[in-house]
Amino acid sequence: MTQIQSGILLEHCRFAIYIEANVQGDLDAIRQACRTFCHSLAQVQARFPDDSVGAVLAFGDTVWRDLSAGEGASELKPFVPLGKGLAPATQRDLLIHIQSLRHDVNFLLAQAALAAFGNSIQVVEETHGFRGIENRDLSGFVDGTENPKGEQRALVAAIAEGEPDAGGSYVMVQRWKHNLDQWQRFSVAQQEEIIGRTKQTDEELPGDLRKETSHLGRVDLKEEGKGLKILRQSLPYGTASGEHGLYFITYCARLYNIEKQLLSMFGDLDGKRDAMLRFTRPLTGSYYFAPSLTRLQAL
Ligand code: HEM
Ligand code: MG
Repeated sequence: MTQIQSGILLEHCRFAIYIEANVQGDLDAIRQACRTFCHSLAQVQARFPDDSVGAVLAFGDTVWRDLSAGEGASELKPFVPLGKGLAPATQRDLLIHIQSLRHDVNFLLAQAALAAFGNSIQVVEETHGFRGIENRDLSGFVDGTENPKGEQRALVAAIAEGEPDAGGSYVMVQRWKHNLDQWQRFSVAQQEEIIGRTKQTDEELPGDLRKETSHLGRVDLKEEGKGLKILRQSLPYGTASGEHGLYFITYCARLYNIEKQLLSMFGDLDGKRDAMLRFTRPLTGSYYFAPSLTRLQAL
C-alpha cells in the first residue's frame, strides 16, 4: 500500500500553517530536505500523539517535472489567471501545509521544515490559519459541511491504488481576502442568496431559491450524473485589524474537478460569476502535486 501524506485527510484540525516557496538550490538539496522533513515530522507526531499532527509537501509543475524525471502527474500544470485576471496566478514551486490541533506544535514543525530546506528555497508567503467558531468562515457561514467524510475522503482526495501516482494528490491554493464591511451591508437573506445555504442553520436553500450565481450554484457540479467532488482543508486567516479572509486549499485525485469549479466560479464556463466575488477576492493562486509519502521518501 502506498501511504498518503499525513496532512491530506485529517479531520477537525484547529490550526494550520501554509508556506509557499520557490526553489533556488539544486534538486539534490530538495530531495534530501524532503527526507529530513519526513523524519522530523515522524518525531513530532510521536511526541504529540494526541494532537492529530499532519503535513504535506507538494510541488509546482516545473520542479515536479525535474524531481520525477517527467514521470506521472499528467494533469499537473502551472496555474493561469482566470476570469480576465479576477483570479491571479502566483504559481510557486513548493507548498508546505502543516495542520494539527495546536498552533504551537505546528510552529515547531514549520521551523523544522525551514531548517530542513535551508537555503534551497526562498519563502514567498507564510499564512497561519485557525478554525472559526462552529467551523464558520469569517463571513459567518459554516464551511466544510459538504466535504467528503470517512472513507470517501481518500477516494476523493488521493489517486487510487494500482494507478500511476497512487496515493498522490493534486492541490490548489488560493488566499482570499474578504471585505467584511461590504459583507455586513448585505442583509442575511442576501448573504444566504450569495452562498446558497442558510446562515444560522447551515441548510441548502430549496431549489427555487438557489441561484445559478450563488457559490453553491457555481461549485456543486455534476457530470454524467456524478458529482465533481473535491476535499477542502481551508481555514480562516489574518489579523482582526488588517488583511483577513479564507486560505482556500483543496486536494483531489483529479485536477480536472478543481479546475472545472474554478472556471465556473470565474465566468470562464458560461459567463456567470460567483456572487461571493461581491465581497471577497483571491490574491494568490497555485496548483501543486503532492506525491504519496512512499514516493516522497524515495525521490
Ligand atoms: C461549499 C465558502 C471558495 C468549492 C462552500 C460553503 C461555504 C463556502 C460557506 C457551504 C458549506 C460547505 O459545504 O462547505 C467559501 C468561501 C470561499 C470559497 C468563503 C472563498 C472565499 C471556494 C473555491 C472552491 C470552492 C475556490 C473551488 C474551487 C466548494 C465546494 C463546496 C463549497 C465544492 C461544496 C459544494 C456542495 O457539494 O454542496 N464554500 N468557498 N469554494 N465550496 Fe466554497
Ligand atoms: Mg451537494
